Amino acid sequence: MERARITVFDTTLRDGEQSPGCSMNVQEKLRMAHQLDRLGVDVIEAGFPIASEGDFAAVQAIAAVVRRPIIAGLARACSTDIERAWRAVHGAARPRIHVFLATSDIHLQYKLRMSRQQCLDQAAESVRLARTFCDDVEFSPEDGTRTDPEFLCQVLQSVVDAGATTLNIPDTVGYTTPAEFGGLIRTIRRCVRGIENVVISAHCHNDLGLAVANSLAAIEAGARQVECTINGIGERAGNAALEEIVMAMRVRPDTLAYQTGIVTEQLFPTSQLLTEITGVGVQPNKAIIGRNAFAHEAGIHQDGMLKNPLTYEIMTPQSVGVPDSTLILGKHSGRHALGLRCQQLGFTFDRWELDDLYRRFVALADRVKKVDDHQLRELIAGMKPPAQSVSSPPAKSVAVPTVIGAQQRKRPPQVRSLRSSSASVTIPLNAMPEHRSDQDDYFWGV
Ligand code: KIV
Ligand code: ZN
Repeated sequence: MERARITVFDTTLRDGEQSPGCSMNVQEKLRMAHQLDRLGVDVIEAGFPIASEGDFAAVQAIAAVVRRPIIAGLARACSTDIERAWRAVHGAARPRIHVFLATSDIHLQYKLRMSRQQCLDQAAESVRLARTFCDDVEFSPEDGTRTDPEFLCQVLQSVVDAGATTLNIPDTVGYTTPAEFGGLIRTIRRCVRGIENVVISAHCHNDLGLAVANSLAAIEAGARQVECTINGIGERAGNAALEEIVMAMRVRPDTLAYQTGIVTEQLFPTSQLLTEITGVGVQPNKAIIGRNAFAHEAGIHQDGMLKNPLTYEIMTPQSVGVPDSTLILGKHSGRHALGLRCQQLGFTFDRWELDDLYRRFVALADRVKKVDDHQLRELIAGMKPPAQSVSSPPAKSVAVPTVIGAQQRKRPPQVRSLRSSSASVTIPLNAMPEHRSDQDDYFWGV
C-alpha cells in the first residue's frame, strides 16, 4: 500500500520551551537542535526571535549550523516580528517564517480588540510581507478550532491568495475532538481555493489528553504536516508528543498508512537529552519513552514475555532506542521470572525449593515493593538446605546502559536481555522456544 509522507515539524524549541521549567539557553538549544537533526525531523521551529535576545541568538545559531532540516522562526502578524524572524532564519539552508494571528471571536474581542475585517486584512498583509523575504511562509490562525469555520476559511483563503505555503490549524487550547477536527480539515480542503498547492498542518494541544488522537485524525483527513514536541512538552498540558505520533504510524501501518523520516531508534536518546537539559522528567508510564513503557511486573506478563515478547509488547524497545525490556521483581512477579533471576545469580532450585523461596519472596516484596539482587541473595542464603550453586557460570549480561546520543548497540544474536530494577537478566533464546529470528522486530501488521 502507498504510504503518504508526513512532514514532522518539531516545535520543542519554541512551543515546548513555553512549558514551565523548560526554557533553554543558546547552547542548550543548539545541542537539542543537533539531536533533532539526528532524529530526522523535517522542520525545527527554533524559537520566537522577537521574544528575547537569547531566542534570537539561538534561532540564528541553529540556522547557521543545522543545515538539513527547514529552520522556522515564529512571528506575530506584524512587520517588526516578521523582519526580526527573517533576520534570525535567513542564514538557514532552508528558512521558513511562521506567522500567526488569532482568529476566534474570543481572542479578537478580548485579546486583540480587533474586528473580523481587521483580522482578515492583517493576516493577508503580514503573509504578503513575509513572502517578500522568504519563499516558505507558514500561517497559523491561532485558536483555529474555536473560530467560526466560515470565517476561518475566509482567513485561510486570504492568506493562500497572499502566498502562504503551509496552513497550520492550531487547536490552541486543546478543545477539539478527533471527529470534529478531522471534519474541520475536510471543510478547509473543500472550501479554500488553491488548497491543493499548500500543505495543511495540524498543531494540537493536550488539555483533554487528545492531542495525538486529534493530530492523527487531521492526518487521516488530509493534513500532511504535524506539529509536535519531544516528550509532549508545551504550554499547560503540552503539545502532541512526537514519539507517540510517529510510533502509531510505524506500529499500525495497516490502519495508518503514513511514513515519516524519523529515525525511531533516536526517540529515546532525544527524550533523555531533553530531560537532561531541562531537568523536567517524564511520567513513568509515558508511552514509548517512559521508564515503565517496556517494564513488566505482573507474573502472568513476565511469564508471557519470557516465552515470547510478542505476548505483551507491540514494538521492540530497541526500535525506539530503549536498550532493553525490564522485568520488575515485585509482589506481582511469578515463579518463572524469580527462578530465572536466581539462575542468573548462579543458583538453581528444584520445584519445592523454588516454591519455598517464592513464598518468602512475595512476603518481602509486599513490604519493600521491589526486590533487589542483594535482598534476593539474603533470601537464598536463609534457605535450608543451602541452595546449590550452578557449576557453569551465569550467562553474561548484555544489558546496554543508556548513552545519550549513542547509536543502538547490536546484541549477540543468541540472547535477549531483560533487566530487573537493579541488575540485568539475560534470557537465552532457547528458553523461548516459540521465538523465531524473524520476530526480532515484532511490529504487528509488518
Ligand atoms: O498553539 C498555538 O496556537 C500556537 C501557534 C503560535 C501556532 O502555538
Ligand atoms: Zn501551540
